[in-house]
Amino acid sequence: MEIKIIKAGPDQLKAKPRDMSQLGFGDIFADHMFTLNYEAGKGWFNPTIKPYGDICLNPAAMGIHYGQEIFEGLKAHQGKDGGIYLFRPKDNFKRFNRSAGRMCMPEVDADFVLKCMKQLILLDREWIPKNQGASLYIRPTMIATEPHLGVRPSNAYLFFIIIGPVGAYYKEGLNPVKIYVEDFFVRTSKGGTGEAKTAGNYGASLLAAEKAKEKGFTQVLWLDAEEKKYIEEVGTMNMFFVIDNEVVTPPLKGSVLSGITRDSVIQTVKDWGIKVSERSLAINDIIEAAKNGRLTEAFGTGTAAVISPVGEITYKNEDHIIAGGTMGKLSHKLYDEIIAIQYGEKTDSHGWVERIA
Ligand code: COI
Repeated sequence: MEIKIIKAGPDQLKAKPRDMSQLGFGDIFADHMFTLNYEAGKGWFNPTIKPYGDICLNPAAMGIHYGQEIFEGLKAHQGKDGGIYLFRPKDNFKRFNRSAGRMCMPEVDADFVLKCMKQLILLDREWIPKNQGASLYIRPTMIATEPHLGVRPSNAYLFFIIIGPVGAYYKEGLNPVKIYVEDFFVRTSKGGTGEAKTAGNYGASLLAAEKAKEKGFTQVLWLDAEEKKYIEEVGTMNMFFVIDNEVVTPPLKGSVLSGITRDSVIQTVKDWGIKVSERSLAINDIIEAAKNGRLTEAFGTGTAAVISPVGEITYKNEDHIIAGGTMGKLSHKLYDEIIAIQYGEKTDSHGWVERIA
């Protein structure tokens, strides 16, 4: 398929942020976007890079009514050497296609959309921040577009990629966040859509997150839906706990997102010869370990957040300070290591990084 390119005219070009060191997350978008259409019986067609703008959806589009929507999040980094680097982009599209399978949506040709994505990034390369801690966030998305109100999978879809410069995901930056262990609401359950990166999981998390925010927490830590006993994830991040010098994260059993940063952390920690386990972790055991000093660090991992230290955890109205409320040693080392790889500054022995310019 030939990619059609419609460049933004001078009047469509947007002003870039003056100070890329002051960026928030998710409000600013570059000049161009990529779109690709799908129809059953025809497949994918019409790959186009065009000026960033509104998309037109029929009000009966099935994605709006029945939630067939999936997305990914990845980043492009500009190194001090001027190189532009992507971090494990193929893994994002593998996961995208797994999400598509769960939501009865068509898979994309990962190699092709990756090629289109790279062209889009290079066309808007001036939007990539040059300072460390900031990057270009990339959001590949698919939504069902067929106008139809019966409940079944749609026969038509729109795939698109939007990009924009971002800074830290949390206003705390690298300062530790406070998390609230949610023991009433659930995000998902076994057999649900928790492992898919689909809009409904995030919609389902909002009420608990808002209630937690009102009480001064940054995020909610979800427990398993069946027993409310085992920790799952934080919705925007996977979670790691360091207990008795062992790094522990919940296993991927269908209700936890298979994070790419999560996997990178597991491999890096293994490389360093530190014991790491993917195993079920009861909230009571974490609280017990926090009380008797065996819990030395907790941190979340995600594309948007990278490594986010947790300085305080609250369960059943009891607050527990972790690592003295500061960023733990291992969290810091992991952050430095992953950032250095992502910006092309450190040898990447895993082949995670792809230089595209
Ligand atoms: C990411 O880490 O990229 C995510 O998708 C999490 C969130 C911003 C929705």
